[in-house]
Amino acid sequence: MTAHEHVRFDAGEMTVIIACEAGAPPRFIYWGARISSSTTADMIRDLSIRQGAHGNEDDNIHPSLSLEPGLGFMGPSGISAHRDGKDWGSRFTVDQVEKSAHAVTIYASDPRTKIDMEYRIGCNPDTGLLSFTTQLTNRGDTPLSIDAMATICAPLPQHMGDIIGFTGRWGYEFQRQRLSRFSGAYLRENKRGRSSHDSFPGIILCADNAREQSGEAYGMHLAWAGNHRIRVDSISDGRCFASMGALFFPGEIKIAPGAAYESPPILAGYTASGLSALSQQFHSYVRDDILRPAVKQRPRPVHYNSWEAVYFNHDTAQLMAMADKAAAIGVERFVLDDGWFGSRRNDSLGLGDWTVSAEVYPDGLKPLIDHVTGLGMEMGIWFEPEMANPNSDIVRAHPEWVLGIEGIDQISFRKQVALDIARPEVSQYLFDHIDAILKEYDIGYIKWDMNRDISHPGGAGGYARSHAHVQALYALMARIRAAHPALEIESCASGGGRCDMGILAHTDRIWASDTNDAIDRQAVQRGASYFLPLNIIGAHVGPRKCHVTGRTLSIEMRTATAIMGHMGAEMNLLTEPQSDIAVLKKGIALYKRHRDLLHSGDHVRLDTADYLNAFGVVAGDKSEALFSVAYLKSHVATLPPPLQFAGLDAGAVYHLRLIWPHGWKAAVTPSIAERLNLADGTAFTGEALMKAGLQLPLSLPETVLLFHLARQD
Ligand code: DGJ
Repeated sequence: MTAHEHVRFDAGEMTVIIACEAGAPPRFIYWGARISSSTTADMIRDLSIRQGAHGNEDDNIHPSLSLEPGLGFMGPSGISAHRDGKDWGSRFTVDQVEKSAHAVTIYASDPRTKIDMEYRIGCNPDTGLLSFTTQLTNRGDTPLSIDAMATICAPLPQHMGDIIGFTGRWGYEFQRQRLSRFSGAYLRENKRGRSSHDSFPGIILCADNAREQSGEAYGMHLAWAGNHRIRVDSISDGRCFASMGALFFPGEIKIAPGAAYESPPILAGYTASGLSALSQQFHSYVRDDILRPAVKQRPRPVHYNSWEAVYFNHDTAQLMAMADKAAAIGVERFVLDDGWFGSRRNDSLGLGDWTVSAEVYPDGLKPLIDHVTGLGMEMGIWFEPEMANPNSDIVRAHPEWVLGIEGIDQISFRKQVALDIARPEVSQYLFDHIDAILKEYDIGYIKWDMNRDISHPGGAGGYARSHAHVQALYALMARIRAAHPALEIESCASGGGRCDMGILAHTDRIWASDTNDAIDRQAVQRGASYFLPLNIIGAHVGPRKCHVTGRTLSIEMRTATAIMGHMGAEMNLLTEPQSDIAVLKKGIALYKRHRDLLHSGDHVRLDTADYLNAFGVVAGDKSEALFSVAYLKSHVATLPPPLQFAGLDAGAVYHLRLIWPHGWKAAVTPSIAERLNLADGTAFTGEALMKAGLQLPLSLPETVLLFHLARQD
């Protein structure tokens, strides 16, 4: 393709057009609702002609994909690069464009600053989800420092009046914050060395009337497991730009002559059909393009995790007894958490010494693993490879492996330090030890934890290594997977501190939060669902009294909440009330019956009052659906409102059943549930369920009802 044409993709609900005129910077001229082929790119371009204004440049400056300083554009900059203060003022103009059916590469350069840019853009032909990756190559003969670089800067329509961002903390991740766009910059910077609990790298811009099933929305996600910057700039000429990129410490990115820097990808979606439709585009991407086929094809096994059951107090006989119980209630994967190695009897000792503790496991792990596998379960095991306790053999032997800034004491953070895994010998050490365990034992799963911020990421030579750390992490995971192709890995970072599509390219599940409090989990999992599909969101039934919040919630509520994810249990199965374990067993059976639907269907969140959380999953062919309705707290109205389902086939007849809790009775009977005998089910049209809705029965606060809908063909 010559460099005077437009790049255009029409897919899903959207059209994107990028002008690639020779000698000019590449630029978006349209990204929005799908347009027909009779509307040409030139028409759109001509309709967007802007002019100069008093007190501003005489003619309009076109913003480019990188908003580089040489444009003279007074809005945000997408890139800041220089050679010792020179060659900072790039203006990248198009040289060439290579286009295939669903992807394009735009080659641009600035011969004066000797920088080449390669913009790689992909478009999913079904959903219209776009992917952007930008590569910068240093064509000069001296090193080039990159202080900042957004993967892409996207102009968005001015009527996108709302920003939905994500905040949170340990034990309460993925909390949505919806605010009206304002003049100036919405800025989130994450320097924690992981994608963070408090700044998930995703953002949505939407019309102020956008809701779950209606309205225009744009979503962007940075697939990067490290530091990031997210910006939405509303500038004085009225325009709005959204950008995302990796965030660098000073001097961190220095590109040698001839070398290149490749940005992490941005995934970007557009819809005119509401926020749930936007999420579905991201879910398809994770399920179809990121997850490995073997993982996708295998039903997501029910987990048991030992952490909240025993913490560091490992005892083989007790764990075997726990495994017996787990197998009996239907668990399929038994994960041995922290505490099996070295001198790790508490969190101040032994982290980094990856050999089985002879003190706790005198005969190694084989007896326990044989017991677990003998019960028909798969064995999983915990590692935290990037970290070590100062009080460990490995740090005593190699203090130089610890990341830090010379002369400054490490900030204390869970009594551990981060290792400089970008040093080849550190990665080799980790690979050798993990590989040895995986070779010796029949282990199919690793929970890969990461429990501290990397606050002082200084490495060899005194340079910042945060970015290099993430690259080394990806490489280490890839190497382990290559050596053990059937192995699955979970990404955990004190819960949801590292949940993003960058890490998901190397892992198979995320541990969304350390809280197993079902009320808080409803919020965490709802927030996560804006970008992540249920089949990778780890959700466990915790103990009766939650260890994180101290709240006591019914087993029915805890179980229902975990069913709507990748289900597991994490409690002492020997000491929890056996009546609870009996209910859990039924819940596991229910999860198994419905997991294919839950993990492949379209995720539909419903708009409700804030004391409810309602959402469901509808099969792609709309033949079946499962909806969850959580009653989170007390409400002012005497009765809850009708629930308008969504995503169903309006013309079809569905058999609606209340399937959880078993034997449920309304707070005041008879309710609609008893009158219509919803436990056995009643038939309604999809239209009635979506337009009129189901009058919700009166349920107590802190309860969850699950409804199943089966189309009657
Ligand atoms: C933090 C994790 O999120 C927990 O689930 C557990 O694995 C602990 N670390 C172990 O140290």
